[in-house]
Amino acid sequence: MIELLSKRRSIRKFTSQAVSDEHLEKLLAAALLAPSSKDTRPVELVAVRDKGMIAALAACRDSGTMPLHTAALVLAVTADTGKADVWVENASIAAILVQLEAENLGLGSTWVQMRLRTNGEKSAEAEVRKTLGIPENFGVMCLLAIGHKDEVKQPRQLDAADWTRTHNERF
Ligand SMILES: Cc1cc2nc3c(=O)[nH]c(=O)nc-3n(C[C@H](O)[C@H](O)[C@H](O)COP(=O)(O)O)c2cc1C
Repeated sequence: MIELLSKRRSIRKFTSQAVSDEHLEKLLAAALLAPSSKDTRPVELVAVRDKGMIAALAACRDSGTMPLHTAALVLAVTADTGKADVWVENASIAAILVQLEAENLGLGSTWVQMRLRTNGEKSAEAEVRKTLGIPENFGVMCLLAIGHKDEVKQPRQLDAADWTRTHNERF
C-alpha cells in the first residue's frame, strides 16, 4: 500500500490511448466501495469519454484544467447534498480511491477541483452541473482526469521534515 501511495502522482499529460471498459468498471467500483458517513452512499459519478464533452468540461473553470486537455476519460465526482451533510468528505474519499485504483491499473490521474472554483464571475461547480445535466441538489467536488500516462514522475519520498507533521500524544 505504501508503495502504491508513493507512486501515485498527479499526471497531467496523457497519450491518445482510450481507457478500456474493463478499467472504467474497476475505477467506478473503487468509488462505489468507498466508506460514507452513516453509510448514506451519496456519491454518484458521471463518466465522460466524448472529446467534445471533455473540452466543454475544461471550459467550466478558468484555470487549473490542463489535465483535462489530453484526458481520455473524465469522471465527475458528485454527491447528493440532501443525503449527507458531510458530502464533501464522502466525495473526497471516493475521488482518492479512484485515483489509487487508477495507479493500481497503471493509469495516471489528476484531481481537478471544481467546488469553490470559478469561471470568471460564475461558479465552476454550477457550470459543470449545467454541462452534464447534474441535478441542483448534487454538489460537484472535482473532475478526475484519467488516461494512459504521457509523462514520468518520480515516486514521492518521505524525508525527515515530513515527520514533523506528526505528533505523539499531544500536538
Ligand atoms: C483537493 C485537491 C485539489 C486539486 N486541484 C487541482 C486542480 O484543480 N488542477 C490540477 O492540475 N491539480 C489539482 N490537484 C493536484 C495537486 O496539485 C497535487 O496533488 C499536488 O501538487 C501534489 O502532487 P502529486 O499529486 O503529484 O503528489 C488537486 C489536488 C487536491 C487534493
